[in-house]
Amino acid sequence: MSRTLRDRLTGRAAPPAPDAAATSVRGARSDASASGMFGWRRGEGNELSPVEELKRAIHRQLIERLDLEALEALDDEAQLTLRIRQAVADLLRGETTPLSQAERETLVEQVVYEVIGLGPIEPFFRDRTVSDILINGPRDIYVERGGRLERVTGGFRDNAHLLAVIDRIVSRVGRRIDESSPMVDARLPDGSRVNAIIAPLAVDAPVLSIRRFGAGLGADQLVDRGAMTADMQRFLRACVRARLNILVSGGTGSGKTTLLNALSSFIPGSERVITIEDAAELRLQQEHVVRLETRPPNAEGKGEVTMRDLVKNALRMRPDRIIIGEVRAGEALDMLQAMNTGHEGSLTTVHANTPRDAIGRLETMVRFAGADLPDRAVREQVSSAIDLVVQASRLADGSRRVVSICEVGELTSEGIVVRELFRFRRDGVRADGTVDGAFEACGVTPRFLDRLAVAGVAVPAALFQAGDAPTSEAA
Ligand SMILES: Nc1ncnc2c1ncn2[C@@H]1O[C@H](COP(=O)(O)OP(=O)(O)OP(=O)(O)O)[C@@H](O)[C@H]1O
Ligand SMILES: [Mg+2]
Repeated sequence: MSRTLRDRLTGRAAPPAPDAAATSVRGARSDASASGMFGWRRGEGNELSPVEELKRAIHRQLIERLDLEALEALDDEAQLTLRIRQAVADLLRGETTPLSQAERETLVEQVVYEVIGLGPIEPFFRDRTVSDILINGPRDIYVERGGRLERVTGGFRDNAHLLAVIDRIVSRVGRRIDESSPMVDARLPDGSRVNAIIAPLAVDAPVLSIRRFGAGLGADQLVDRGAMTADMQRFLRACVRARLNILVSGGTGSGKTTLLNALSSFIPGSERVITIEDAAELRLQQEHVVRLETRPPNAEGKGEVTMRDLVKNALRMRPDRIIIGEVRAGEALDMLQAMNTGHEGSLTTVHANTPRDAIGRLETMVRFAGADLPDRAVREQVSSAIDLVVQASRLADGSRRVVSICEVGELTSEGIVVRELFRFRRDGVRADGTVDGAFEACGVTPRFLDRLAVAGVAVPAALFQAGDAPTSEAA
């Protein structure tokens, strides 16, 4: 569903897909059409400033003057941007409104963002220090930098403007959002993840959440940033190499995917890796990687491909390792069965606040998927499949750390034994809000230590002796 350049310039949405229900993108947006070609509305109490007026006039002239057909032939997005930038600069030269050079440049950029980019949020997209862009409504925008959320000024003109940008983002990746399917979770070409939810599910305004494809923090950077110690990293590398099954656990935005990515970097390049995700975020550096992504149902509720389907399919693809982005439901059972039947070395994440919770969540998921399994069988599956839980956490000061690494032991009458090997000890909060604390080994030697030795990646037992571990963090 390609859109003409004129549609893009006017912010007009793509034609509805053939399978679209009666409430097409347009239909769901009668308010947008009512507000005119650009979705600009007037007379709502906030009159446009002279610069806004000018921007609007330039935008209109641009559409009248550009040779759209010639531009249409330009496939190259960079060329297109350049031509539009030149055209805007030309138009501005003919304007009488007094503008400083800086204002002029800003205006050119803004019009360019408006016509081919993401409007007011484009600058945040270009800002490498921004990790999340959270839009709760046209003028209610937050960005996260260095773990801290900040509210930004300015924003979209109204709901229709925001909706037009959401539509531009999702249609660019071949998806569709409208009243009949008001929720989209997708990955952008640059690896960023977007989630959009609109009416009737979002009550007040269209909501857009973007997790920028980060700087791609690698295992070494995680150590440099104080997310774990060099010893912990060394231990985790050995565990991955020795094909332990590892569960990364953490709350929302705690750094689970980042950790999973870092752990997978330790997988030898000679192995065949299959990744399964809802929105492919992982960036594996190895050559032999097959990436699978689930598919949501279409407007008629058909065609869904679940995690569970993909896990089953992956097992027929002769994988050496299976990496599942996040287990949320029935796929947990298939994953555990795979781990217990020769597909060791698998990695996944789960949403939980402590390692014990993570194990509990996994048990619940398996119980749901295999309703006829007795409790004990479920626990046996979990305890024999999972070797290690790595707990990620976003601390009060916005920093993200591996707050615990636990060995998952045997099943006893009390339940599954979980032994903590490393932890981050929180001592308090400094005056400037930073969390004070230190990583420490807990004095427990993992039972699987010999497995590491057998795999040729032995680590010294001294690593686990209780006491503060040296961090490379500048305290
Ligand atoms: N140790 C770290 N130091 C600084 N930033 C980090 C660290 N780990 C992760 N981040 C950043 O935090 C954000 C969230 O990370 P990530 O996507 O890995 O979290 P998540 O737990 O998978 O989130 P979700 O629950 O949304 O899936 C990203 O922008 C990432 O770059
Ligand atoms: Mg994640």
